[in-house]
Amino acid sequence: MNLIDALANRKSIRGFKPDAVPKEILGEILKAAVNSPSVMNSQPWEMYIVTGDPLDQIRQGNLEKLTAGSPPNPDIKFKEKFEHAHKKRQVDLAIQLFKLMDITREDQEKKSDWMQREFRYFDAPTSIFLTYDETLDPAYLSYFDLGCLAHAICLTALNYKLGTCINSYGIMYPEVIRKHTDIPESKKIFISIAIGYPDWDFPANKIASDREPLKNVTNWVGFDRF
Ligand SMILES: Cc1cc2nc3c(=O)[nH]c(=O)nc-3n(C[C@H](O)[C@H](O)[C@H](O)COP(=O)(O)O)c2cc1C
Repeated sequence: MNLIDALANRKSIRGFKPDAVPKEILGEILKAAVNSPSVMNSQPWEMYIVTGDPLDQIRQGNLEKLTAGSPPNPDIKFKEKFEHAHKKRQVDLAIQLFKLMDITREDQEKKSDWMQREFRYFDAPTSIFLTYDETLDPAYLSYFDLGCLAHAICLTALNYKLGTCINSYGIMYPEVIRKHTDIPESKKIFISIAIGYPDWDFPANKIASDREPLKNVTNWVGFDRF
């Protein structure tokens, strides 16, 4: 698959087959992805690749916290306030997903099931947790680097017919993740990425998320003579 096709074909996968992803394939993906750029080549990432019992225990622990109403306490504090066009795109995504999943606004049970899937890493056989060292905080440029790495993982996964979903709900209870992975307090848990073989019959996987036309997000300067 060439790069343009990979960029066009990558999409968030929210339903997976139960088949395990071989460790060797995950290794190949991560070996390719660590070629991502980072500020001053600092390579601020450390990854935890979790599968099997430990991942199931994390899912279970997350659900216990969620259903008990425990307030989320992620290592990184989300400061984004979505307004105007950003808010609209966020709402549009939820509408699209709920329509595909046949979830109505009033259906609290299905809405709650959907939320629980987020905390179960969409039942993927593997979740990759990206961390960075606490000494880097406030880690603005390192956040950028981890984002580059995350995208590289998602693109490279396509080469092995794997699907991914970057998942911020998956890091809401870092104490649960630490309990089952031994990630030290000194490593900040930045994001999780669910990875596995897509279940193409899963309705939400049919999503084709919109993008703003390029003309609305580009400003071309000094091109009048070219
Ligand atoms: C930092 C980040 C966090 C995300 N967290 C979630 C999440 O918690 N749950 C989810 O379903 N999708 C999550 N996504 C996926 C986005 O919803 C998705 O990338 C966006 O809707 C565009 O769709 P696409 O990935 O299919 O192109 C996240 C993506 C990013 C980059």
